[in-house]
Amino acid sequence: MWDPEKYLDYADLRARPFYDLIARIGAVAPRRVADLGCGPGNLTVDLGKRWPSATLECSDSSPEMVAAARSRGLDAAVLDVRDWTPAPDTDVVVSNAVLQWVPDHESLLRRWVSELPPGAFVAVQVPGNFDAPSHALTRELAASPAWASRLADVMLREDDAVSSPLGYANLMADAGCRVDAWETTYVQPLRGPLAVLEWITGTALRPVRAALPDEEWERFRAELAPRLAEAYPARPDGTTWFEFRRVFFVAQV
Ligand SMILES: C[S@@+](CC[C@H](N)C(=O)[O-])C[C@H]1O[C@@H](n2cnc3c(N)ncnc32)[C@H](O)[C@@H]1O
Repeated sequence: MWDPEKYLDYADLRARPFYDLIARIGAVAPRRVADLGCGPGNLTVDLGKRWPSATLECSDSSPEMVAAARSRGLDAAVLDVRDWTPAPDTDVVVSNAVLQWVPDHESLLRRWVSELPPGAFVAVQVPGNFDAPSHALTRELAASPAWASRLADVMLREDDAVSSPLGYANLMADAGCRVDAWETTYVQPLRGPLAVLEWITGTALRPVRAALPDEEWERFRAELAPRLAEAYPARPDGTTWFEFRRVFFVAQV
């Protein structure tokens, strides 16, 4: 289950890649803009401000996130991104920090390109930090004898969950698009004693949280905390730098 409030912790840091992404979309007056995996809708609202004359469409597979988006006045729908098909007037598709949860999203991207009208933009950002200590340590703990049987079915994203900028550039160019692809590593200043743990609780640890009863979840967190603290030491001024690589592309059909 996604927790909109937890996800909105660090909202500024989470929002920055979204703005970096949409800054590269060249659409001037799109007819319809779709935000797939819109989350709590706080960023979707800004798509509406950028293109006020467009029909704004947004969806997410999480009913909790959709409820949060609706509370912002958005006409959000509960929908798995894999089941989405573009309306014929869809000129912009944005999917920010979502496709890492969708195995084989490359086929999905190819299908969108085949269904979208000429000139449409597909703008995607995915985290590219699956081999970072935060994720590697979580996988290592989940695979340890104490946890392996409890967490065997949990989907922890492996480091092949997403492609490289070059991989996406080739994929989208092979599908016939003009492509702008890049990556950025944000050196994020977090604060607080369990800063990295708190950050990943809202995202990467979500499947672990869902798989464990409260008491075991607290024990998993307690075992992970010192490992993360060692990998991400706090500076004397209280800041913990949390490097976060992200992969982007904007493709025009
Ligand atoms: C990290 S959040 C990003 C939310 C929003 N796009 C943003 O940038 O703030 C990931 C979102 O993807 C949604 N999600 C995950 N898998 C999905 C799927 N298969 N279909 C639709 N949404 C999905 C989650 O419910 C969650 O709201």
